Amino acid sequence: MGEVTVRRAVEADEAALLAIELTAWDASSGFPSMTAPDRTAFFSERSGPDAHLVAELDGEVVGYVRLQDKYPFPEGAGVLSVNGLAVAGSARGRGIGSILLTAAGDEAKRRGARKITLFVHGTNTVARRLYERHGYVVEGTLPREFVIDGQYVDTHVLARHLD
Ligand SMILES: CC(C)(COP(=O)(O)OP(=O)(O)OC[C@H]1O[C@@H](n2cnc3c(N)ncnc32)[C@H](O)[C@@H]1OP(=O)(O)O)[C@@H](O)C(=O)NCCC(=O)NCCS
Repeated sequence: MGEVTVRRAVEADEAALLAIELTAWDASSGFPSMTAPDRTAFFSERSGPDAHLVAELDGEVVGYVRLQDKYPFPEGAGVLSVNGLAVAGSARGRGIGSILLTAAGDEAKRRGARKITLFVHGTNTVARRLYERHGYVVEGTLPREFVIDGQYVDTHVLARHLD
């Protein structure tokens, strides 16, 4: 087991994060459209380096978590969304997803957040177990929300309350 560190993302992480993004997701965890071969950018105007923490294993970027305000209006202040969490296939099963989720929780507390929320496919059992271990509970289910590879997929709304 090498050394795992977490830091804020910077523009120079673009290529490493895009490579992870294009291979990390499958039909049980994400959307096939996210990994379309013509996707050429990881960061976007809405979702730049500031929205990401990256994990490095022995100095190599192997994962990220995307943490953003859920709402653009003051009544929803304090609610953050984990809008992405992924670890490169070759680095999985070493607790790096867990380290990133802990770091996101710490960052949310640092920002004074009161709640972290996220969506997870009903089919994504690995991620659901991980979130449960971190204190996330199901606050709602959206039945048959997506059609992926011709199959209906339920989505769960998970949340962890920080106050
Ligand atoms: C979910 C994800 C981020 C977890 O990252 P990770 O670094 O493997 O997390 P952990 O090491 O804490 O392990 C998570 C689970 O995978 C299991 N695992 C062990 N070895 C593994 C391997 N080689 N490959 C995949 N999973 C493995 C772990 O045992 C653990 O299972 P458990 O919960 O029953 O103990 C990663 O699987 C991933 O990127 N998945 C695709 C994207 C995704 O689903 N994101 C979440 C969307 S809401």
